[in-house]
Amino acid sequence: MKIQTKVKLNSSNEMPMLALGVWQSGELTKQAVLTALKNGYRHIDTAAAYGNEEAVGEAIKESGIAREDLFITTKLWNEDVRQGKTEEALKSSLKKLGLDYVDLYLIHWPAKGYVDAYLEMEKLMQAGYIKNIGVSNFKKHHLEHLLAHVHIIPAVDQMEFNPQMQDEELYQFCKENGIVLEAWSPLGSGACLKIPAIISIAEKYRKSPAQIILRWLLQKGIVILPKSVHEERIIENAHLFDFKLQEEDMETMNSLNQNLRTGPDPDNFHF
Ligand SMILES: NC(=O)c1ccc[n+]([C@@H]2O[C@H](COP(=O)([O-])OP(=O)(O)OC[C@H]3O[C@@H](n4cnc5c(N)ncnc54)[C@H](OP(=O)(O)O)[C@@H]3O)[C@@H](O)[C@H]2O)c1
Repeated sequence: MKIQTKVKLNSSNEMPMLALGVWQSGELTKQAVLTALKNGYRHIDTAAAYGNEEAVGEAIKESGIAREDLFITTKLWNEDVRQGKTEEALKSSLKKLGLDYVDLYLIHWPAKGYVDAYLEMEKLMQAGYIKNIGVSNFKKHHLEHLLAHVHIIPAVDQMEFNPQMQDEELYQFCKENGIVLEAWSPLGSGACLKIPAIISIAEKYRKSPAQIILRWLLQKGIVILPKSVHEERIIENAHLFDFKLQEEDMETMNSLNQNLRTGPDPDNFHF
């Protein structure tokens, strides 16, 4: 069964639209990544702050999959942004991952100094350590500020996006500017799986609530990073390509927004 589809980034590189997220996967990270890779995932989303880049690297090596067939994302942590340590932080991540380059490097949060960090990332991209650069937790106003000061448009913005948390303004801005939106916590860390309207759509298509949410995001052109450490869920979250949500169900999903964040507001974070 087909389990992947790709999106073309503004750099002209392609990125698989389904990734395994590994935040809070802890000691189970290596096994979860190996399970995902065995089941057709080719995109892994980690971060320096998750403390599991080494485990991701071990799984990549053990999988035996050719480097060019994988898409690996990691992120620059806030302290490194504030202290101007972008190059050091990237090289530390590469060492932990056991890689010569990452496919996507993101500024994790709009911490003070993010424009300088981004300009440094542009240089590191030109030097071959990064294939694509982007940001995370940037609202429209952060993106506008960034775009006014840098040379390369971010390939992606990774933001909390799920049925309960839909930033329509950001979604439209990304579309208009050729920035791919990636949804973190696509399942609302599990909370969205209990929404009655989603359960009822799931019954209609004989799919799970997780599959309905993930399929809805894909049909909106949003990249998905579901996290699981359980084999059956990792497999379930990838089986999204043998059905299509009808327009009326897309509209129902779109109508569930409550601007309810599971994580911090990017305008007000303290870490
Ligand atoms: N850029 C950022 O600031 C940022 C912030 C947060 C997250 N992220 C990224 O986004 C990824 C996903 O976000 P997330 O981990 O917060 O939340 P999520 O993917 O929305 O939800 C994960 C939770 O749902 C459960 N789950 C997964 N698939 C399921 C299924 N099919 N049925 C029932 N339960 C299921 C998982 O449990 P089990 O693991 O026990 O199966 C876990 O508790 C992260 O891993 C990370 O890569 C980025």
